[in-house]
Amino acid sequence: MPYAALRSIGAYAPQKILNNEELSAMVDTSDDWITKRTGIKERRIAREDEYTSDMGVEAAKKAIERSGIDKDEIDMIVCATISPDYFCMPSTATIIATKLGLKNPTAFDISAACTGFVYILSIAKAFIESGMKKKVLIVGAEKLSAITDYTDRGTCILFGDGAGAAVVSATDDKSEAIIDIHTGSDGSFADLLMTPNGGSGSAHDSLEQEAASCFMQMKGNETFKVAVRTLTKDVVDILEANGIKGEDIKHFVPHQANYRIIKAVGDALKLSDEQVVLTVHKYGNTSGASIPMAINEIYEDGKLKKGELLLLDAFGGGLTWGSALVPFSPKN
Ligand code: COA
Repeated sequence: MPYAALRSIGAYAPQKILNNEELSAMVDTSDDWITKRTGIKERRIAREDEYTSDMGVEAAKKAIERSGIDKDEIDMIVCATISPDYFCMPSTATIIATKLGLKNPTAFDISAACTGFVYILSIAKAFIESGMKKKVLIVGAEKLSAITDYTDRGTCILFGDGAGAAVVSATDDKSEAIIDIHTGSDGSFADLLMTPNGGSGSAHDSLEQEAASCFMQMKGNETFKVAVRTLTKDVVDILEANGIKGEDIKHFVPHQANYRIIKAVGDALKLSDEQVVLTVHKYGNTSGASIPMAINEIYEDGKLKKGELLLLDAFGGGLTWGSALVPFSPKN
């Protein structure tokens, strides 16, 4: 049976920065409040003519180049996004594939919100281990500014735009292989975090009502509590299931939603500050893009070396959650 190895990482952040001072001029908030409650100082905002697929393409180009794999050999691309170029169709994955000039790969999007990257990693692993695919490009890309209500101080301070991508390919060497991935969901918490518009479940009396409901809506405080509980349990479960201890983890890469959530989980697991990867201060919450953007950050800072063990942990709308134990296994 072939194993699946994480070969490379890449990311893209749009140039425009929206900082806390600028947000304070838009809604009733302050740099002090946002920093204390979330740890976020600034986030990136895509240009109007810059789509989710464009950001995904930039991240994917880096991931493909760093993988050393010929793009013509990529036989599948999966994109995790809750802010696709177009709702329903075509998928953002097909658009990214075409912009990259890939050769007719299997291509589809998945919707697992902030857990999206862990889900697409598990899909890549499953397809490779079953022998159905050999070289899979996974992309988490979000233009959350397009679905954010900039009059709602409870949400607009949190979210930003960006993309991350990785190449996963088959290997016979077990030491390179993704060790384990756990994923789960509980739809009974659906109303904590949702965009009520646009699907067959949305019924509106007026166009104004419909337009307003295409934005993300969140019960922040309840989401916070479930997030801490779920993220901690998730990590305990995957470590125990694989007989791995917290100190064996080189880089803990949690979904970047809120510094206080990350700190609470890190403390509960007795992880040191050096182990915990943090980017939430610079990018805010970029949903499906947040984990690959964070892995890319340590890669570009020269802190991520071949063979080092990554522990990924995510939580998001749905509710969905997931964790993964992944050695970084570039070919060179
Ligand atoms: N600026 C100033 N005050 C704000 C504010 C803002 N941006 N947003 C909310 N407030 C106010 C509230 O209105 C409330 O005021 P009140 O006490 O007069 O009613 C007060 O601050 C406390 O609100 P609360 O929602 O309890 O704050 P909180 O400590 O839970 O922080 C979040 C709010 C959104 C930062 C926090 O709940 C959070 O991060 N939740 C999880 C979000 C998340 O991770 N989502 C994605 C999951 S993938």
